[in-house]
Amino acid sequence: MPDDIRISVADESDVAWCAQLMSSTDPWLAYKFSIETCTGILHWPGSELFVARVNESLTGFMLLHPRGFLGCPYIAVIAIVAGQRGRGIGTRLLEFAERHFAGSRHVYLCVSSFNLRALRLYERYGYAKVGELPNFIADGFSEFLMQKRL
Ligand SMILES: CC(C)(COP(=O)(O)OP(=O)(O)OC[C@H]1O[C@@H](n2cnc3c(N)ncnc32)[C@H](O)[C@@H]1OP(=O)(O)O)[C@@H](O)C(=O)NCCC(=O)NCCS
Repeated sequence: MPDDIRISVADESDVAWCAQLMSSTDPWLAYKFSIETCTGILHWPGSELFVARVNESLTGFMLLHPRGFLGCPYIAVIAIVAGQRGRGIGTRLLEFAERHFAGSRHVYLCVSSFNLRALRLYERYGYAKVGELPNFIADGFSEFLMQKRL
C-alpha cells in the first residue's frame, strides 16, 4: 500500500479528471456513460466529491451522498486509475467514507452484477447484499444494493 495517500475535497478543476476516469472505466464504460453524463452525476445536488492523491498525483475519487439512499449515507461512485488498482487505495477510500459517515446506522452502495471483483472487495470489507434491482441500468444486468452496519 502506498504510504503517501491524501484524500481531500475535490475542487471544480478536479471534476473533469474524475468524469474522464469514470467514463473510461467499467462499469460506466460498459453502460456507455458519456463524459457529460458522468459530469452530471458528479454534480448530484447534496453529494460530496473526494479525490485521492498518491505522491500528489490524482489516483482515484469517490462520490458520497449523506442522504443518497432513502435518506441514508450512500457511496455513489468509487474509482481508481487502472495502473494503481489492487494496492489498497480503494479500501482506504471505503475507510474514509465510514469515518465521514460516523454516527449513522448504515452505509449503502450499489454494484453491478458483472463487477465481481468490486463485489468481492465490498463483501470482504463487511458489506452484505440486501437487494437486487434487475435490469436497472441495462437489460440483462442487475445492480445489487449492499449495506454495511457502522
Ligand atoms: C473497485 C475499485 C475502486 C477498488 O479499488 P482498489 O484500489 O483496486 O481496491 P484495493 O486495492 O483496496 O482492493 C483490491 C480489491 O479490489 C477489487 N477490485 C475490483 N476491481 C479491481 C481491479 N480492476 N483491479 C484490482 N482490484 C480490483 C478486488 O476485490 C481486489 O481484491 P482481489 O485482488 O482479491 O481481487 C477499483 O478496482 C476500481 O476503480 N475499479 C473500477 C471501477 C469500479 O468497478 N468501481 C466500483 C463500482 S461499484
